[in-house]
Amino acid sequence: MAQRGKQHTRSRYDLIAPLYNVMEWPIEQLLFKSWRKDLWDQTKGPKVLEIGVGTGKNIPYYPEDIQVTGIDLSPGMLKRAKHQLPKKQQPRITLKQMDAQQMDFPDDTFDEVVSTFVFCSVPDPVLGLKEALRVTKPGGKLYLLEHMLSKNKSLSTVMEKLDAPIHYLTGVHIARTTVENVKIAGWKINQVQDMTSNGIVRMIEATS
Ligand SMILES: C[S@@+](CC[C@H](N)C(=O)[O-])C[C@H]1O[C@@H](n2cnc3c(N)ncnc32)[C@H](O)[C@@H]1O
Repeated sequence: MAQRGKQHTRSRYDLIAPLYNVMEWPIEQLLFKSWRKDLWDQTKGPKVLEIGVGTGKNIPYYPEDIQVTGIDLSPGMLKRAKHQLPKKQQPRITLKQMDAQQMDFPDDTFDEVVSTFVFCSVPDPVLGLKEALRVTKPGGKLYLLEHMLSKNKSLSTVMEKLDAPIHYLTGVHIARTTVENVKIAGWKINQVQDMTSNGIVRMIEATS
């Protein structure tokens, strides 16, 4: 079942990869750019893991004095991230194909883990967040920017109804309870910031 979920997610992102940046361009300019900057400005490193690096949209926001390892499940998305990786940045940025639910890194490898708009599509988000905790050093930080189930009752009812068909078509779940998932995985939540008035997009900071 988990294997099927993984294949579904990978195939959807491989399919979407050529269009991903174009589809997201308007919202990227309007909102995401400044949110990404705010998120990455908080990181101190030195060793940072980015889960679900996608087409590499966060790369321009990586602070210059940190080392980043970026992983993604989809070869199609990752290929685009590799293409846009500036040559002079290559010694401090490593990109690998890997499943967030089963990472190859030893325990306590990273000082911080960052992820943007990913735990909506990781097939088992709690498993992925537990893996993130395992590879983070004690006292290390998790920074997430994620869309999730709205706090607004009418909106959340609609989102729950649409979740299954949207997941089938795109690989994305729109009704995840990501703040709760972070807690269930064993992280200590420090801060949750609502980026939208309905609580659909939130920035989460947690400690291992
Ligand atoms: C909506 S995209 C976000 C990409 C990028 N973080 C951004 O902000 O534009 C979600 C990404 O998560 C990746 N992903 C989904 N499940 C994953 C998993 N289990 N392990 C690693 N990456 C995963 C997908 O392949 C996709 O590239």
